[in-house]
Amino acid sequence: MTSGTDIQRGAAHVGGPYRSDALSTQPQLENLIDIEEQYQVATYKKFPFVIERGQDVWVYTSEGERYLDLYGGHAVVSTGHSHPRVVQAIADQAARLIFYSNLVYNDARARAAKKLVEIAPEPLTKAFFVNSGTEANENAMKIARMLTGREKIISFEGGFHGRTPGSVSATGLAKYRENVSPLLPGHVYADFGNVASVESLLDEETAAIILEPIQSMGGVRMGEPEFYQALREMCDQAGAMLIYDEVQTGVGRTGEFFFAGRFGAVPDMIALAKGIASGVPMGAVLMTDAIAGEIKTGDLGTTFGGGPLASAALEATVDVIRDEQLLENVRENSEYLFGELRKMLLVEEVRGLGYLIGIKFPGGTAKPVQQALLEKKIITGLSDDPSVLRLLPPLTLRKPEIDLFLDELSKIALG
Ligand SMILES: Cc1ncc(COP(=O)(O)O)c(C=O)c1O
Repeated sequence: MTSGTDIQRGAAHVGGPYRSDALSTQPQLENLIDIEEQYQVATYKKFPFVIERGQDVWVYTSEGERYLDLYGGHAVVSTGHSHPRVVQAIADQAARLIFYSNLVYNDARARAAKKLVEIAPEPLTKAFFVNSGTEANENAMKIARMLTGREKIISFEGGFHGRTPGSVSATGLAKYRENVSPLLPGHVYADFGNVASVESLLDEETAAIILEPIQSMGGVRMGEPEFYQALREMCDQAGAMLIYDEVQTGVGRTGEFFFAGRFGAVPDMIALAKGIASGVPMGAVLMTDAIAGEIKTGDLGTTFGGGPLASAALEATVDVIRDEQLLENVRENSEYLFGELRKMLLVEEVRGLGYLIGIKFPGGTAKPVQQALLEKKIITGLSDDPSVLRLLPPLTLRKPEIDLFLDELSKIALG
């Protein structure tokens, strides 16, 4: 295993020395935290530091400390923090044209749409660009209802699809629905991975089945291959649409560009966001030609979706994933990581695929493990299952940093 010290030394050329001059005119740490607390509405429980800068799998705090980011900036920075090619593409595009909407044709948007469709599985041949995961899901469900003339949407217990009314209504984790009233009508929830449960809900009123192919927030749970194949067949028979929410599994995270296509099952639509543009806000709905052909001008819209800046970031993201063989990197190194984790006494189970990883610890102890890792300057994520710690690192994560993580994890003793 590579020692922490080796990693530290290796970092000199990766992260570079911390530039303290950047701070000289800025408020102190406590002030920055206080200012955010004072002027921002509460959302997530934040980590107790200020991240100012990132490079590849590392982030740097205002105190000059370096953290290994195994949470990938919230499952977003697919190509690592501030990848030079992505930075360059954004800078070049910003200097030429930051924004014009879909009212005009644009070279960056044209290239981004072509690039995304080129990596999509057949027969998904058209892209509708939006700005976030929830917006992608809202639009996919809207399209399904609009084109089938049906209302019912089947989603799954344990699934998460976003915070806006339609997406939260499709979210199977009840706690996110609790304070939302009214929820949208027509939503029902099946047991994830259970074909019979879907069969009991699917009928001629069903517009769509929507699912995260791997339930991430729900504790990183995946179905058997037959589950996805059955969903495809059942949707075909019922005239319903199959929607994969690939906001997390998309754009390389599982070691393929998409989960769609695995086990021979391709959905009618894929919702994308998070890693698609390396951190520039962007989402997309990929769909078949047949679906796109039924959508008329004016049915869909968004001011910012497919803006030139985000489009340039998407194009650079896909190019980097291809040119740096990041899919191969994810496949190879995740196999190593899964193997090593499974040898650890502390670990009850390792779930997921590629760089979407759920590590199950005994008796709801993911939080103390996360805290212990944080003290060792490693950022990880929790999930809705108190036993499951989640890793969603950049696709650029390589063996030395994996070894650093394994080394620190192996030293943790749960009391
Ligand atoms: C699977 C999944 N779908 C949808 C969303 C919502 O995405 P956004 O926060 O960009 O709206 C998320 C966010 O975590 C997600 O993980």
